[in-house]
Amino acid sequence: RNQKRRLECRPDIDSLTPSFLSIYNSLIPSEEEKAKQKRLILSLEKLVVKEWPDAKLYLYGSCANSFGVSNCDIDVCLAIECDGTSKPEILTKLADILQSENLQNVQALTHARVPIVKLMDPVTGISCDICMNNLLAVVNTKLLKDYAQIDGRLRQLAFIVKHWAKSRGVNETYRGTLSSYAYVLMCIHFLQQRRPAILPCLQEMEATYEVTVDEVECLYFDQVEKLKNFGARNNESIGRLLWEFFDYWAYRHDYANAVISIRTGGFISKREKDWTRRIGNDRHLICIEDPFEVSHDLGRVVDKYSIKVLREEFERAADIMQYDPNPSVTLFEPY
Ligand code: CTP
Ligand code: MG
Repeated sequence: RNQKRRLECRPDIDSLTPSFLSIYNSLIPSEEEKAKQKRLILSLEKLVVKEWPDAKLYLYGSCANSFGVSNCDIDVCLAIECDGTSKPEILTKLADILQSENLQNVQALTHARVPIVKLMDPVTGISCDICMNNLLAVVNTKLLKDYAQIDGRLRQLAFIVKHWAKSRGVNETYRGTLSSYAYVLMCIHFLQQRRPAILPCLQEMEATYEVTVDEVECLYFDQVEKLKNFGARNNESIGRLLWEFFDYWAYRHDYANAVISIRTGGFISKREKDWTRRIGNDRHLICIEDPFEVSHDLGRVVDKYSIKVLREEFERAADIMQYDPNPSVTLFEPY
């Protein structure tokens, strides 16, 4: 594989940028859609506090981390003290309440790995998944959003990478490929590695934000408005960054030994994490450390079949970026 590694990028690489940026622009959700989402969450919160006065609803995931494309479902977290009541009981109760308020397709999936209530709001047409007390997801949502504010190229790159992954069928965790969250972490890590760096490592800087959730200490520098010029010394275009991103995952990543870690801003060895062998269902064939739950490998869903699919897709994308006359079309062709 390493022999295929290319030393020189096509000479017209920067001229590909406008076509990718127009795809990015077409994916951005409108202000109107954002406002609708906010209204929906406020009206849901009103219903919830009638039953549980101290409960709170948080938006998380792509509708809140700034990596959401238009018309996506929204992810909501219900934060609530359980005192004795089980999760399934609370979720079943929640589903009853929502059902009686004319929300549609209300379903309590209490046996799922992450139990949720699903619903569709007939007024806005927005679908929504409500989980319970998953506050680490709320905190990692803020971390991603803060990173996105430092350099606009992160959001552009991640939108395009997510769009590619969805078009090519490699954004399906139930089939052994990676979550959107994992792809965004890969983009952040990649921009931390550019020289000069395009993103800093917020968790290595002096902490200005500090919370402890489920016994995990989450600390990082969150005054990102002070970092607006951080990436300015690097003027790589989106065309070039995409080329480099796919080239990296196709031909240069050390799958056998390396773990990518945005927490440290670099790489950790699999040996150091004890991620060298299969334990239970965790195979660690591509290793992406969660920034807060450091024992979580976001690549743990990948198995010996899907790793092949994934790597072939990275190679296809890298080759298109290098040789195709029209990468901004070919890259996203359905599989
Ligand atoms: N999440 C997590 N750990 C995972 C997967 C997801 O903490 N292993 C949390 C993250 O906060 C993430 C959210 O769940 O932002 C939603 O995950 P996902 O559906 O992968 O990402 P979205 O950003 O919502 O992407 P999409 O636009 O595809 O819905
Ligand atoms: Mg989502």
